[in-house]
Amino acid sequence: MNFNIMTLFPDMFDSFKNTSIIGRAINDGLISVNTIDFRQYADNKYMHVDDYPYGGGAGMVIQPHPVVECFRDITKDMDKKPRVIYLTPQGKVFKQEDAIELAKEENLIFLCGHYEGIDERALELIVTDYYSIGDYVLTGGELPSMVMIDAIARNIDGVLNNKASTEFESFCDNLLEYPQYTRPPVYEGMEVPEVLLSGHHANIEKWRREKSIERTLERRPDLLDEANLSKKEIEYLNK
Ligand code: ADE
Repeated sequence: MNFNIMTLFPDMFDSFKNTSIIGRAINDGLISVNTIDFRQYADNKYMHVDDYPYGGGAGMVIQPHPVVECFRDITKDMDKKPRVIYLTPQGKVFKQEDAIELAKEENLIFLCGHYEGIDERALELIVTDYYSIGDYVLTGGELPSMVMIDAIARNIDGVLNNKASTEFESFCDNLLEYPQYTRPPVYEGMEVPEVLLSGHHANIEKWRREKSIERTLERRPDLLDEANLSKKEIEYLNK
């Protein structure tokens, strides 16, 4: 998968590209993360990309020309036009199911806005998907695009060492993940639940499923409406 990011602040992606699982996935050739500074496509000698909003109001708006020309340059040799994701608090809230679905694409373009946003005509011409990462306003689209790329990349085959790590994680089945423990068996007087030391796989599975349901009920009851629960589990919840 090739992630192309149109941004005025490409340096923000440096440590993201060089660290941990994303850094390794790039080195292994499983993904590429290319940042393109669309200021290069400015049509004036001062390389300005923004101007005052028509109609007045606070802040500056990014002009259409550099955005659209940058997009045309990135896609000029592509047979199929890729999806273009614009990061905005006005978008659809990004969910795990979106990360799984977007991981099937071969190319994605992320467009990062700043200031008061981007001229609507550029968005109309190139954007296919509007996404928000939550109901709060950030200073630009760079952090949200890193959040989305991270969440998408870990669903691409080979990016995580262990396929099972995406099989039983939070949001699979619309439940939160069960609690995890490692050594030592007793820490500051707190014991690891006995069932996890028993080696009895069926009991461990049962315990984990119960903990997932309890935790979801306690922390994210809104998810339970969409969760895939058995009749017995629903009865247990309603007790
Ligand atoms: N840009 C500014 N705030 C944002 C948000 N919450 N999600 C996505 N993009 C944004």
